[in-house]
Amino acid sequence: MQVAYYENFAEIKKKIWSMFDNAVKDRSSPFRIPVFICGNQNDLDGRIVVLRKSDQINYLVQYHSDIRSDKIDKLKANNNAAMLFYDKEEKIQVRLKVECIINHENEITKESWSKTQHISRKCYLVDNGPGTESNIPTSGLKPELDNFDYTKKQSEDGYKNFTVIQCKIKSMEWLYLAAKGHRRARFDLENNKDYWLVP
Ligand SMILES: Cc1cc2nc3c(=O)[nH]c(=O)nc-3n(C[C@H](O)[C@H](O)[C@H](O)COP(=O)(O)O)c2cc1C
Repeated sequence: MQVAYYENFAEIKKKIWSMFDNAVKDRSSPFRIPVFICGNQNDLDGRIVVLRKSDQINYLVQYHSDIRSDKIDKLKANNNAAMLFYDKEEKIQVRLKVECIINHENEITKESWSKTQHISRKCYLVDNGPGTESNIPTSGLKPELDNFDYTKKQSEDGYKNFTVIQCKIKSMEWLYLAAKGHRRARFDLENNKDYWLVP
């Protein structure tokens, strides 16, 4: 059976955005945990993040992080980044080129923080930032915080570290693996142009 998005640009874009939208809601979706890649010419790094928002109108996806994370300094020096998604069942890979906006202690972080779950706030309560070296194996948390035994008031301490990275999509690349012939397309969202590519 041929899928509607096999050879149709509009259907492909519809499919990609439906996969992003679904990933924000569905914890088991493979698109929920893309690889986010940033850096400079000599130091590029990828890491898994959790997709927290998808906004087709503004060509935006976003995730949360700690303001002390290494990637923040990298993004301040170069806000161009890439994101990589793969869904094995759907046989679809999506690659994004994005431009990032770092949000810290503003209306956007306020709104997202209010929606975070109590247990998720734990990530932002570590004394020293992610990537800090330690003499012992550690979660980075004080023992009383490590067992989720913190109050809502204590969890508010994490807000000062909470960061929302908005990724404005410049282009998307789609690869679909199919026995009868793979298909690949690129969407230049800045110039509103669609291209077929040899897979
Ligand atoms: C399943 C999973 C989800 C993760 N989600 C996030 C996330 O949403 N944001 C984030 O900054 N790091 C997330 N991480 C941790 C990063 O992969 C990375 O280890 C961390 O951000 C520190 O690296 P960096 O400062 O160089 O980016 C996640 C890791 C895993 C395995």
